[in-house]
Amino acid sequence: MTLSRRKAIALIGGGSVLAATVATAGFLTTRTPGDARRPWALAGSYNDPRLNALSFALLAPNPHNLQPWMVGLEGADALTLYRDAGRRLPETDPFDRQITIGLGCFLEQMVQAAGAAGLAVDLTLFPEGEEGPVAHAVFREGGSADPLAAHILDRRSCKEPFEDRAVPGMLASQLELLADIYTDAPTVAALKDLTWAAWEVEALTPRTMQESVDLMRFGKAEINANPDGISLGGPFLESLMVVGLLSREAQADPASTGFRQGVEMYRKMLSATPAYAALTSATNTRDDQIAAGRRWLRLNLAATGMGLSLHPVSQSLQEYPEMAPLYAQAHALLARPGHTVQMLGRLGYGPAIPRSPRWPLEAKLIDA
Ligand SMILES: Cc1cc2nc3c(=O)[nH]c(=O)nc-3n(C[C@H](O)[C@H](O)[C@H](O)COP(=O)(O)O)c2cc1C
Repeated sequence: MTLSRRKAIALIGGGSVLAATVATAGFLTTRTPGDARRPWALAGSYNDPRLNALSFALLAPNPHNLQPWMVGLEGADALTLYRDAGRRLPETDPFDRQITIGLGCFLEQMVQAAGAAGLAVDLTLFPEGEEGPVAHAVFREGGSADPLAAHILDRRSCKEPFEDRAVPGMLASQLELLADIYTDAPTVAALKDLTWAAWEVEALTPRTMQESVDLMRFGKAEINANPDGISLGGPFLESLMVVGLLSREAQADPASTGFRQGVEMYRKMLSATPAYAALTSATNTRDDQIAAGRRWLRLNLAATGMGLSLHPVSQSLQEYPEMAPLYAQAHALLARPGHTVQMLGRLGYGPAIPRSPRWPLEAKLIDA
């Protein structure tokens, strides 16, 4: 029951919860949303090198797995990346800061994949200003592979308790090249308290919680029909849905038993964290946000290559009135005065978890 209850609420905070641990093998197979994961298998299988790079790019991490990208191919060697204006998180990300970070992750993964295929990419960010397309990209010969690209298909955002095992100092100092890494006991303890308090604010503020609930996909059919948002799938969760224990209504109701027990399990998960990674920037322009996304993706790949897991915990960085005191605390703890904390994540040794759903590349291409 413990696993199910944790899974049943690991709902807020975003991403997939695919409990593939219980039930018979047959049921397991039939409840796995294979279509939603197919883009991972198709990555790199296209003839056009731009499509190949894009097929990896769309596997990038992004807030609530909204996948807010659209791409138009141009001529033989160029493309334009657009933000899908319909895919926003107005309650928890009113200024699209996190959405823009996700687009930075996408661009970095596209550049990494192109490099692995021997292509360089000349990027121009916001070529028509910040309200226009996100980037124009020209592919040309002369790229070189970054060893980080080898980890693209293994990268995850690991929304699970981490082992009670320290991050070795040697690995932490290598990751320090990409982010601020916190392993000291007082700061780790302060960040556990902060991330938990912030999670509670999001969960108990009806309009921010509702934003997550609206993005939940309940069961294989919903996940395959909408391979984005917060996926609740796998045989065990589906059996809870069948008996009515896991529903959209219960998830929006803090008084329900499932909600309360799940909150407790989420608290334990957040506390099972030996280290944190944070990214800050001196200013907070759209370019800074794209750069933060590019750096986060590299950090996520580097950690993956070291056998470490990374899990963004963004609640305390979100810009809405109820979160303001905790936003101030996060900034006092992690950034110089006036700087912005762009990302905060748990770092440690987590379990292997499934790939998260994605829309196919074809759904993201538009006529330029
Ligand atoms: C800017 C940004 C913020 C995110 N914030 C959270 C978060 O607060 N909690 C969480 O569980 N996941 C967070 N994620 C991770 C996404 O939920 C995850 O990338 C997405 O569900 C796809 O899963 P994957 O990264 O395993 O492929 C964030 C990702 C990005 C890029």
